[in-house]
Parts: sequence; C-alpha cells; structure tokens
Amino acid sequence: MIKFNDIEIKYGDFTAISNLNLEVEKGEFFTFLGPSGCGKTTTLRSLAGFITPTEGAIEVNGEDITYKPIEKRGIGMVFQSYALFPTMTVEENICFGLKENKWEKNKITERVKKVLRWLI
Ligand SMILES: Nc1ncnc2c1ncn2[C@@H]1O[C@H](COP(=O)(O)OP(=O)(O)O)[C@@H](O)[C@H]1O
Ligand SMILES: [Mg+2]
Repeated sequence: MIKFNDIEIKYGDFTAISNLNLEVEKGEFFTFLGPSGCGKTTTLRSLAGFITPTEGAIEVNGEDITYKPIEKRGIGMVFQSYALFPTMTVEENICFGLKENKWEKNKITERVKKVLRWLI
C-alpha cells in the first residue's frame, strides 16, 4: 500500500503540492488525471525518491520511505521523455536495471526474453 501523508513539496519559494493525502491499495490500478502543472509528475518523483517533500511522509507497505535513497526503494518510473538510453540496443535498455542490481547473466537473459515476448 502507498500512502501520502500531508505532503507538501516546494521548488524554492513555489509550492507545487500542498496538503496531499492519498492512499493506493495493493494491486490497485491508480491513475492521476489533471491539468498540466497540477503536480502529477512532482508527486510521482517524490514517490520514486527524486524529490524530498518539504513536509509530510510517504509510506510504502507500512514503511516510511520519505528519506530512503532512490536505489533502495525498488520503485520504477518511466519518464514522459528520454525514457530510453539512445546509445543502447533494445535488449541493453531492458536489462539495464537488472545488471545494475547484479542479477546473474542467465536470469537476465531469461527475463529479457520474457519481456520481449510481451512486446511482439
Ligand atoms: N524543477 C522545477 N522547478 C520549479 N518549478 C517546477 C519544477 N518542476 C515543476 N515545477 C512546477 O511545479 C508545478 C507542478 O509541475 P508538475 O509536477 O510537472 O505538473 P504535471 O506533471 O501535473 O504537469 C508546475 O507549476 C511546474 O511549473
Ligand atoms: Mg507531468
């Protein structure tokens, strides 16, 4: 379960998010819909760990992850643009995160094949 508790996020003096309280249940398919600039990306960036809220706390499965480093959160994010490494092949892009997490080579190959099967 994901919980945003009284979250405020500022960029300098500008308040992008204020008083955000939100719960997303395990397995729930959740969509943010709102006008450009309302704070959708900022909210997701705070969950992934790219931004630290100026107030409040974020919980994932009961753990307070507000100040947990990005690489320890195990949360993936696909950015609106520049989602791929242009100098890498499709296969290298898919297995990048697994290599970084030091997966065994045969497990990486197995997973890449599985993902590629979904795409064709
Ligand atoms: N790096 C930044 N520095 C200053 N203001 C920002 C920054 N990123 C976003 N903002 C501002 O914060 C508000 C929310 O932006 P954002 O989260 O990108 O909205 P959305 O994804 O809903 O379009 C907007 O007013 C935007 O201009
Ligand atoms: Mg956005």
